[in-house]
Amino acid sequence: MKNKIENLKSEILGKLSEVKDAEALRELEIKILGRKGELAGILKGVAKLADEEKKEAGQLANELKIAIREKFEEAKEVFENSAKKRGFTDATLPGKKITRGHLHPITIVREDLEDFFQSLNFMVLEGPELESDYFCFEALNIPKWHPARDMQDTFYIDPKGLSVQGEEDGQPDLVMRTHTSPMQVRSMLEYGAPLRCVVPGRCFRSEATDVRHEHTFYQLEGLMIDKNINIRHLKGVLVAMARHLYGPETEVRLRPKFYPFVEPGFNGEVTCFLCHGQGCRLCKQTGWLEIFGAGLVHPNVLKAGKIDPEKYTGFAFGFGLNRIVQLKYGIEDIRLFNSGDLRFLEQF
Ligand code: DAH
Repeated sequence: MKNKIENLKSEILGKLSEVKDAEALRELEIKILGRKGELAGILKGVAKLADEEKKEAGQLANELKIAIREKFEEAKEVFENSAKKRGFTDATLPGKKITRGHLHPITIVREDLEDFFQSLNFMVLEGPELESDYFCFEALNIPKWHPARDMQDTFYIDPKGLSVQGEEDGQPDLVMRTHTSPMQVRSMLEYGAPLRCVVPGRCFRSEATDVRHEHTFYQLEGLMIDKNINIRHLKGVLVAMARHLYGPETEVRLRPKFYPFVEPGFNGEVTCFLCHGQGCRLCKQTGWLEIFGAGLVHPNVLKAGKIDPEKYTGFAFGFGLNRIVQLKYGIEDIRLFNSGDLRFLEQF
């Protein structure tokens, strides 16, 4: 009898280890632990034994029963848990969202303006961010002693290990460009006249940063040179651009302003798109938003670009892309652009 019980135990354990799902487990349970199951048969057999043997065999059989029950419970739990984990599959649920990156708001507006200017036959050019003092200032009619330089203090480069062109008096001649205007003379030297180009790009200034000032920002420069170019051409292009950005009702106002590389020079304003010229907080009650500098290219700048000012004239304009984007999206703090803060970036 003892042997029989031992055999049955190892037989049951063997079968249990082969069970693959909850249903097979249940069948096996009925077969073994059921009222007419194998264990019940054994217990019946024990009852018929003589008293001496009965005691020992009864104890063994009981132990077996308890142990087997436990094993079945354990096995059940395993199947239940894995079923829970797998869950039931609801094929109608939406899939997991795959997050994708997207363009920075400055890039969105820059690409839009590039398309616009290309439609007017302007080339889109890029220039170096690390620029020579010559192209950044000198060639733009801003000599070393000129006070206009004070407004454009920038980061100076330690030229060790760089080959520096145009080094004067041992002074390094490299600066992080303070505006995109140096590309005016570079593009004239490269392409000559007639010429139409825009130059979007990153610029740098040594600024005490606050909501309106940032040390790293973006500009877009425009340049057109041809025979008999005058202010009407400048205004025509600026009006077209302003209407592209802010709608067909937008007007452009040019007021005199000094920039060393243009003559005459203008401060360009557009009708405030928020109040349509009525006056509001955004335009400080003036009805106008100042967005660009512009003018007719100074003869000295044309000469620096090896273009004859007697034959050709041109206009140039430049504006801060950050400001355009800030106005478009109502962004109050310019420092958010470079912050890398996803809470800001994910809104576009
Ligand atoms: N470069 C000027 C600045 O950063 C902006 C500017 C003014 C560009 C007048 C021009 C211009 O081309 O004609 O403040």
